[in-house]
Amino acid sequence: MKFFVDTANVEDIIKANDMGIICGVTTNPSLIAKEGRVFGEVIKEITSIVDGPISGEVKATTVDAEGMIQEGRKIAAIHPNMVVKIPMTIDGLKAVKVLNEEGIKTNVTLVFSAAQALLAARAGATYVSPFLGRLEDISMKGIVLIKEIAEIFKIGQIKTEIIAASIRNPIHVTDCAKAGADISTVPYKILEQMVNHPLTTQGIAKFQADYKAVFGEN
Ligand code: E4P
Repeated sequence: MKFFVDTANVEDIIKANDMGIICGVTTNPSLIAKEGRVFGEVIKEITSIVDGPISGEVKATTVDAEGMIQEGRKIAAIHPNMVVKIPMTIDGLKAVKVLNEEGIKTNVTLVFSAAQALLAARAGATYVSPFLGRLEDISMKGIVLIKEIAEIFKIGQIKTEIIAASIRNPIHVTDCAKAGADISTVPYKILEQMVNHPLTTQGIAKFQADYKAVFGEN
């Protein structure tokens, strides 16, 4: 399973990229709004940092297929790595079909059922983004959805990649890897939590103390 970082915060993207663990970025309208920056500007900056798929979503207020297609073309023109993120609706599927025929990559977002994922894949989506955490927020088992989509895509030999999204903790990440997600898109804070382990911290402190006791600071 590969990693994307799920943020529009440029500092966090640089930190994740420097760690050498991510190969893409996902953003959404809430994440862009949180940064208070112009969409085109921040997206362009992200493409100059990470050399991999960068998901930029159509405007939250654009709900018709034609509008999404027009915007999708503009997003794709920003950089060859751009992936157009489109919500899972009938108009969204129509837009995915047209953009796919034009060779533009798409990421169908706000996927909460295997049926939605299958439709998105058949419409030509490059990626589908099932939201784990938000399902758990309503007391449903998000990981079951990831497993189900992975199984259906395997049986149908579907090439659409599964991006496990709405990841809230390190256990979600390892569960998604076991469930067959191709990618997990993870907020930077959770990547940090994945790095840290109290025994690692203790181990480093002990190595330093033992070394210094014999050899001093040098
Ligand atoms: C994915 O593409 C979304 O941007 C994201 O994972 C949503 O996560 P949230 O449910 O924590 O907002």
